[in-house]
Amino acid sequence: MREWVELHLGHRISESRLADFEKRVLLASAEAGFEEPSEFIASLIRGGENNEAIGYMALYLTIGETYFFRDAMSYSVLKASILPEVLKRKKPGERLSIWSAGCSSGEEPYSIAMTAMTVLSDFRSEAGPIEARILATDVNKQSLKVARSGIYRRWSFRDIPAFIKEKYFTIREDETYALKDEVKSRVDFAMLNLAEDGYPSIVNGTDNLDIIFCRNVLIYFSPEQVTNTLLKFHKCLRPGGWLFLAPSEIPHPAPKFFHVQNLNGAIVLQKVEEIDIKEKAPIKIVHSNYSYFGSTREDMRLSIDNLIESPPAMPESREPPIEIDFENLQSKLTEFYDQGRYSTIIDALPQISTSMEDSDSSETMGLIARSFANLGNLEAAIDWCDRLIAQDTINARWYYLKATIHHEMGDDEAALRSLTQSIFLDESYVIAYFVLGNLHRQRGEKVKSSKCFSQVARLLQERTGTDIVQDSDGLTVGQLKSIVSSLGGDSQI
Ligand SMILES: C[S@@+](CC[C@H](N)C(=O)[O-])C[C@H]1O[C@@H](n2cnc3c(N)ncnc32)[C@H](O)[C@@H]1O
Repeated sequence: MREWVELHLGHRISESRLADFEKRVLLASAEAGFEEPSEFIASLIRGGENNEAIGYMALYLTIGETYFFRDAMSYSVLKASILPEVLKRKKPGERLSIWSAGCSSGEEPYSIAMTAMTVLSDFRSEAGPIEARILATDVNKQSLKVARSGIYRRWSFRDIPAFIKEKYFTIREDETYALKDEVKSRVDFAMLNLAEDGYPSIVNGTDNLDIIFCRNVLIYFSPEQVTNTLLKFHKCLRPGGWLFLAPSEIPHPAPKFFHVQNLNGAIVLQKVEEIDIKEKAPIKIVHSNYSYFGSTREDMRLSIDNLIESPPAMPESREPPIEIDFENLQSKLTEFYDQGRYSTIIDALPQISTSMEDSDSSETMGLIARSFANLGNLEAAIDWCDRLIAQDTINARWYYLKATIHHEMGDDEAALRSLTQSIFLDESYVIAYFVLGNLHRQRGEKVKSSKCFSQVARLLQERTGTDIVQDSDGLTVGQLKSIVSSLGGDSQI
């Protein structure tokens, strides 16, 4: 399976990631709607034109996280340096062509489109008006479906200034944001697996390009696949064309056929012509928070406010922030949560967000998600669950939390998927089996529900009655035992 993934998707799974890999296969299988992982694997291997399984696999091998204007520095460099340089060289009738490769749910290509539209609106050229086309591809069909819809939840924006949302989106009744047609119509989406040979090609529009964005994808590839992909990108580009990687993705050793540049912290590769590419030293993408020439990105942080032309600043009215002692952040938030002070937690979000460290913020995010759910803002609760899962992918508890919110929203199919993922990740997670059993019961699926209740009974068999069941909001083992036995859960099955 590991070899298959490397051959067909380009991803290298190291020995140390094997246990994690197994779990990700199970998660992808559940998300793709397979009850048996073996059927999912068979479908992967069968392949074929409409093979959706490979997309699910890709999604679970990468952290599918993306958001508008992610790594603002890249867009700043695109706006201030690269686009003006590219546009200057355009001849009459030529258009601007950009490819976002591994575009996930579309936030990246749409951010490129917005940036290009801003630059083009000011650009005067002897070549006359220039049209911009953006091609966006991914191997995951579900992500492409979201991308084509142009509808996003709040979390896709992170800390994007409100005026960008107001300029390019309309807010809908369910508090999601719909991208306006003027941006949507500039981007064409298509499925493309970067590990295959479908590019460059005039047929799918991957030839003669000015700029390619391929960020947070190559980092997962084997060195051989990175080298091949970079060589193919080289062929896709026009003379002097540009390739953007993520700021933390450093190609090593530096490819000879690209000139690697650090433009204010953004890693940009410019096509080098007339180079003998016979010599193919495998190139790795090295993950580093240090830019190519050794300086940190921290000091080069740039505001995204000036990427899109902003309206005149309006004075902001803000509630005074609540004082929180960050030394004991988690215990203080738990205390608030236990007291039912959900709004206090949400009001303190701006302070909490700045103090969250990636490594230990999962519990805090869990409390935020639960607080939103308790306040009835289920959209926001789901957004926080997605963020949690992106950060702590193989923790069964977050899938369970997401399932409970989906259920609350009336989306039982999604709840079932998340619960299946939760128990794949932790076969001893009692509460997930219990809720799954209830869900099957409500749907009249008797065999499935009693299987779940029996599993709960089995897991509780050896435990003391007064113990509290994890994540059950105070239910004791004794109480749960008698509930499942009344529902037909038999530990002897
Ligand atoms: C982390 S997302 C990157 C999204 C966006 N480029 C960004 O930086 O925000 C990685 C994406 O790469 C896609 N991907 C992974 N392997 C791929 C492959 N072999 N061909 C095409 N896309 C792939 C995944 O489906 C996922 O949508």
